[in-house]
Amino acid sequence: MKNNKLVKIGILGLGVVGSELVSLIRKNALRIQLETGVKIEISKVYVRTMHKTRDIELTGLKLTTDSAEIINDPTISIVCECIGGNGFEQSARIVEACLKQKKHLIMSSKKTLAKYANTLLDAAYQNKVALKYDATVGGGIPIAKVLEHSFKGDELTRIYGVFNATSNFIYSKMYDKQQSFDSALKEAQDKGYAENDPSDDVNGFDSLYKLVILTMFGIKKIINPDLINPESFTHINVKDMEYAHELGYRIKPLSALAVQRGGYSCKVSPFLVPEKHLVAQATDNFNAIIMEGKKCGELGFYGQGAGAGPTATAMFDDLISLFSPCDNIDIYPYSLVDKGKVDDLPSRYYLRYTVKNEAGILSKISGLLASLDINIERIIQKIENTDDIEIVMLTSRMNKTTLENIQTICKSKNLTIPAVYPIVD
Ligand SMILES: NC(=O)c1ccc[n+]([C@@H]2O[C@H](COP(=O)([O-])OP(=O)(O)OC[C@H]3O[C@@H](n4cnc5c(N)ncnc54)[C@H](OP(=O)(O)O)[C@@H]3O)[C@@H](O)[C@H]2O)c1
Repeated sequence: MKNNKLVKIGILGLGVVGSELVSLIRKNALRIQLETGVKIEISKVYVRTMHKTRDIELTGLKLTTDSAEIINDPTISIVCECIGGNGFEQSARIVEACLKQKKHLIMSSKKTLAKYANTLLDAAYQNKVALKYDATVGGGIPIAKVLEHSFKGDELTRIYGVFNATSNFIYSKMYDKQQSFDSALKEAQDKGYAENDPSDDVNGFDSLYKLVILTMFGIKKIINPDLINPESFTHINVKDMEYAHELGYRIKPLSALAVQRGGYSCKVSPFLVPEKHLVAQATDNFNAIIMEGKKCGELGFYGQGAGAGPTATAMFDDLISLFSPCDNIDIYPYSLVDKGKVDDLPSRYYLRYTVKNEAGILSKISGLLASLDINIERIIQKIENTDDIEIVMLTSRMNKTTLENIQTICKSKNLTIPAVYPIVD
């Protein structure tokens, strides 16, 4: 056996993830001690409510409702943050204070990290401690490890994929089982994929925070999430999923970032994805993350993106990595991306028009698009009823301003476009 070194850790939060992490530490502590010579001891656990029934054996755990008991305890050298989504401001304050007390931090809350990334990463850098956050994105998919240890000789050009298990589960059930959005959301909540308050999941914010964090992993840059407006994942109609299928695509709740001309183009929205693409294969609670490098091309990562098990496992791996001398020094200065360098992602588009069934309507729409230099690449035309027809088209690439011009002109001519989705190339 190697020399024994006692490492005391503090845990913030003892909900679904915190409890799973405690179980993992309890189960594996002896093995880790034998392998690394480090004896892990859970010193204190910060909770919001002291007296509460919990799904974990509390014997041997010292709970506290005073975070200062962890922050100011000089014997605690590592803190694992597992605070719930609604407590993100409080979580950021406690995490920053711990970093300033020179404690290494392992995080699970993507909202805390994405919203306070600049402050927290700077505090870690200034105090020469590690801030690890593999668990915040992609559950058990070891994406941070790949990005930190690979890509050193390459430049990331794109990051995109399905990062939100709840919305992906809902879309899968809507398309495969013809369920309504609300009943699929309820099923996701019953299965533990969705948070009690799922608004960040279904409105695209959770996906946005994860895109911001993947950018941090991949290019050591911080994009302020307030600069990007996600399109909600809730405005989706099974009809569009079926039209997309006719055209060879699936509709997926997607996040995408492209590095181009020294700037960053970002979009969070339902997207059309070619049916054979890895991202289209990610159904139910699975995540698919694609990284594209200038030299290595596309790399894909696939796995369960939610749940206490995968998340706590990723945190546990981060914890153990701090005991490895070659891994615990990955402390970099991160830089904040200027506001002027973040814009919307240009792409091809899926447009569904509902218009009056009258002669020449198609040439009216195509003429309008042509006047803005936009081509129609594919088209489906269906009679809805005797008065109306639906025209679905895939267009050539355009930016946000051109799309907005099309929407404004169409509105002024009573041409309704109920569905507008970008397409993954
Ligand atoms: N669950 C997942 O599948 C999953 C996956 C990836 C990432 N995450 C992230 O992991 C973190 C923890 O998630 P969870 O599912 O374990 O949450 P949870 O079950 O709601 O537990 C949250 C814990 O944080 C404590 N807490 C302290 N101050 C709080 C405050 N102001 N507001 C809310 N909670 C406070 C709670 O204390 P009390 O117990 O005393 O109420 C509770 O122990 C979240 O940030 C979540 O986004 C979760």
